[in-house]
Amino acid sequence: MSLKVAVVTGSNSGVGLAIVRAFCKHFGENGAVYLTARNEERGMQAVEGLKKEGLNPRFHLLDVDDVSSMEKLRDDIKTEHGGLDILVNNAGIAYKGNPPMSEQAAGSVKTNYHGVRLMTDTFLPIIRDGGRITHVASMVAPMTYNKMSKELQQRFKQVSSVQDVTNLMNEFIEATKTGDHVKKGWADWAYGTSKLGVVALTKIQGENIIKDSSKKDVLINCCCPGYVATGMTAHHKGDHSKTMITPDQGADTPVYLSLLPAGTTNIQGKLLSKRQVKDFFAGDIGPITFN
Ligand SMILES: NC(=O)c1ccc[n+]([C@@H]2O[C@H](COP(=O)([O-])OP(=O)(O)OC[C@H]3O[C@@H](n4cnc5c(N)ncnc54)[C@H](OP(=O)(O)O)[C@@H]3O)[C@@H](O)[C@H]2O)c1
Repeated sequence: MSLKVAVVTGSNSGVGLAIVRAFCKHFGENGAVYLTARNEERGMQAVEGLKKEGLNPRFHLLDVDDVSSMEKLRDDIKTEHGGLDILVNNAGIAYKGNPPMSEQAAGSVKTNYHGVRLMTDTFLPIIRDGGRITHVASMVAPMTYNKMSKELQQRFKQVSSVQDVTNLMNEFIEATKTGDHVKKGWADWAYGTSKLGVVALTKIQGENIIKDSSKKDVLINCCCPGYVATGMTAHHKGDHSKTMITPDQGADTPVYLSLLPAGTTNIQGKLLSKRQVKDFFAGDIGPITFN
């Protein structure tokens, strides 16, 4: 039996590390699970931690801001295993403090949106039939959408190509440079806008993969892990520690999507939270919560 090969981006900590743990437990000796990190020392420390738990992840360097780093991993996976079964685009950033909005917009869109887009484009050629691609987005996407002008909401709803989504992301970055993004109908939220980009991107990628006759049974979806106690939310802890879940709990929906059984057709191009589809582009989904 060939090994199930999985790659998780930004998995030296938090939700990504918990996803790697879950895959290692699920596949055991039948899996090759790649814990990846942009920093070798942090990555190897995480690998050693999982080894102490009796698990056996592999390590590879990966910076999702750098296409050559993506290509190196893709080529190494192709050489070693012939293809990839599961890709989880988990790596993400959220600015702490209050740097200028234009800096937050460019940085958030680069890592959170383009990182996901370019990882998918780079790895799709080696994704095997039955493959699962899962992006870690956030329920801040519908929150951000609800803060936008009706006109911008309509444009997000009506995107029909990846370029349409990228154009919206570029327009947001440009508007933050002149400081009139809110006047132009954008939410004052770089992280949220970048995650909304991921949700819109997922919808298009889901539509495209159905039409791609070279791929069978490949699913591309995104999800919110919940409100998870990680490095990203450490500064919220005092206020919200009671409502936060653990990284292992946060891994549940991304792992669920990545292990959807063969032949699943009804979950494609969607955003999920707590294993439920949240189709906010299609209408009201009620109160939006993380947990
Ligand atoms: N925590 C929450 O409540 C929550 C809620 C909704 C969505 N999310 C999403 O969940 C995902 C995981 O976040 P987390 O909460 O687990 O936070 P985290 O512990 O800070 O993990 C983020 C990971 O992404 C990595 N990363 C950042 N930029 C990268 C790059 N250019 N290349 C490769 N790796 C990079 C970080 O690596 P370094 O250690 O090198 O910085 C880190 O390993 C993110 O996409 C986040 O937006 C989190």
